[in-house]
Order: sequence, then structure tokens, then C-alpha cells
Amino acid sequence: MATRIYLIGAGFIARTHAEAAYKFYGETPTDIELKVADPNPKALASFVEQFPHAVTFSDMKDMLAEEAQEHDVVVVCTPPFTHFELSSYALKSGRHVLCEKPLVMNAAEADELSQLAKDQGKLFGDCSDRFIGLPKTEQVKAIVASGALGEIYKVSFIHRDQRGRAGVEYQPESRWFLNSKLCGGGILTDWGPYDFTVLADILQPSAVDVLGGWIAKPITGADPQDVVYDVEHNSGALMRYHAQGQDRPVLVQYERSSCTHGEAYSLVEIEGTLGAVKWSPYFGGDAVVQRFDEQGSVAEKEAQVPNDNAYSFMDAPLYFFVERVLGHDSAALLNEDAVFNFKCIQAVYESAASGNIQSVTRG
Ligand SMILES: NC(=O)c1ccc[n+]([C@@H]2O[C@H](COP(=O)([O-])OP(=O)(O)OC[C@H]3O[C@@H](n4cnc5c(N)ncnc54)[C@H](O)[C@@H]3O)[C@@H](O)[C@H]2O)c1
Repeated sequence: MATRIYLIGAGFIARTHAEAAYKFYGETPTDIELKVADPNPKALASFVEQFPHAVTFSDMKDMLAEEAQEHDVVVVCTPPFTHFELSSYALKSGRHVLCEKPLVMNAAEADELSQLAKDQGKLFGDCSDRFIGLPKTEQVKAIVASGALGEIYKVSFIHRDQRGRAGVEYQPESRWFLNSKLCGGGILTDWGPYDFTVLADILQPSAVDVLGGWIAKPITGADPQDVVYDVEHNSGALMRYHAQGQDRPVLVQYERSSCTHGEAYSLVEIEGTLGAVKWSPYFGGDAVVQRFDEQGSVAEKEAQVPNDNAYSFMDAPLYFFVERVLGHDSAALLNEDAVFNFKCIQAVYESAASGNIQSVTRG
């Protein structure tokens, strides 16, 4: 029987899921039934130009009206303010649902969807797992697990870009990225899902305390004046991770910016009493650099760990999710784990707003 994949939304990210579906589950309608719904006829027309076998709908309710089958997968590929309603509808139609990041607009919606998925006996997945399973990060996890770093006391997780705002410098046609009522938030909402998923994958926290968070919106001459623009593009927090295998909590110095008047740099590094390891979990190359002491001097060891997975990071969410739906093991980010990561991000916003410590416990 063909795998049935239903995409809600036919914009930029929907195409990456369609590519992954064809790559892993076959090219013809007998291998895969790909259906896509979008109220925008232009988006649908250009989608079908790229994927001629796809069946199109202007209303997702019509697309999901047919009887559900056991392994049906719906992928929600629309702007964030629609995720809750569309995911609820798709789960209630009796299908597994993979939702784009950010999952939803608030913690209550995340809990409700997780519960609904449980009640329906279906999987609810989050696309924030895009960068999980990269061999370079797996190598870092192996170094941490080996004890070679000693007692881990600090993680720096910093990405500072001077001009890379979604809706301004990046994908300027998608202005919804700038309006908090449509997108949920700025750079913390946009990239935080990946950051907190990578951090949780490495540190396996049972709980996270946000000791102090901040969000800011640096002002530039390129700020759009004709649309609502009320989201942050510089954010960060000092956090305490109650990490698996560590006697004491690990301090995480976190920052993510897509606009700053300060210096642009990235630093992702784990420091312990016996050594440190530095790498780039995303695009900054494949080097894993270990530093340690050798008879009182600083020693360095560098390994190149390129991605040799059959899947790319853009394939990963759909591939991981469908594999789990088919009953195979995978790194899919599901239900409570997705909700926990989402709540950590919300805790940074809450700490920034209130000035208070916020704690999140894994469900
Ligand atoms: N653009 C990226 O690089 C990127 C990367 C990863 C994740 N994402 C996430 O993917 C999601 C979509 O982003 P995008 O960049 O593809 O946006 P986009 O603007 O390119 O496309 C969104 C599409 O959703 C459609 N849509 C809106 N409401 C709908 C509804 N009720 N039913 C069906 N279709 C509807 C729109 O008409 C539009 O065609 C967001 O959550 C975003 O955060 C985007």
C-alpha cells in the first residue's frame, strides 16, 4: 500500500518535506500518495510544477475528509498561529501529525495537543529535530559520555548574526515572521526550537531553570514600516540544566540573535574540569575540537566529522517521523519531549518579561 502524506501549506518548507518523502518512500503514486492543501492558488500552482504527482486542495478539510488509514501522516507546514488548530483537526481526523516549528503559540496549546495525540493513539511530532543525529554532534555526545571532559560545569551555546532576520533579510516575502500574533515570537521562537532540542539531546535534562533571560529588538534602517513588526531579534539566557550523569547542575550560557549592533560570532563549547569540546551543531563546518591539559600546557585535538547519513538535515524531520509511524526506531521528537523543549523557550520569554527565575520539569 502507498504511504499517504498530507501536507497542509504549500510554501517553502512544504517542498522540503515533499522532497524527503519522494527520496525515501518512492517516486510514483503507487509508492507514495502526496496530497497538499493551501488556500493560495499561486502557492499550489508552483508546488505542482515542482511535484507533478501531488494532488491539490484549496481547503485542508476536503483533503482530510477521506477515511484515515493506520499509517497516514499529516505535516503542518503553515505559519505558527495556525499550528494548533490545524494539528488538532488533523489528529481528530485519525492521523499522525508532524508539526513545523515552533510547535504552537503557548504552553497550554502544546499540552492540549500532546494529550489529544495520546487520546487518539497517534503520534504528534515536532520538526525541531532537524539537526539531531548529525555525526559531529553524536561524536560530541560520545566524548561527554566517556567522561573525558571530567565534571561538566558550563556550556556556551551562542549564535550571533548581525543581519539575518526572517521576514527582512531572509525570506522577505514571508512578512508573518515579524508579527508576534502570527509567528509567536522572533529569533528565539524561530531558532530556539533547534537550539533547545540540541541542548536537550546532549544534556538529557530532567529539569531546566532559566535564571535570567532577555529579549531585545535592535533598531535598523531596514526595519519594515508597512507591516506589524513587534518581535525580538536578539535573545538569550543564563540557565541551569539538571543534566543526566552530572552530579551538579550545568550552567548554560545561551544566546541567539539575527540582528545585533554587537559583534557577530558563534561559539558552542562544553567545558569540564578535565577538558573542553567545541563544534558547530549547524553550518559552521564539521570540526570537533577537543582541548585538554598535557603536562601543564594546552593541548588540542581536531577531528573532521562530516555528515554521512543517508538523510540531510532538511530530510530529517519527515524521515524520522515516518520511520516511527512505520514502527522503526528513529530520533523523532515526539509528544512530551517536544512539549518540554517548547516550554524551555517559553520560560526564557517569561523570565525576560518578569525578571524572575522560571523552572521547567520534564513531563
Ligand atoms: N522558511 C524556512 O526556512 C523554514 C525552515 C524551517 C521551518 N519553517 C517553518 O515552517 C512553517 C512554514 O514556513 P514557510 O517558510 O514554509 O512559510 P511560507 O510563507 O513559505 O508558506 C506558508 C504557506 O502556508 C499557507 N497557509 C496559511 N494558512 C493555511 C491554512 N489554514 N491551510 C493551508 N495552508 C495555509 C500559506 O498560503 C503559504 O503558502 C513555519 O512554522 C516556519 O517556522 C520554515
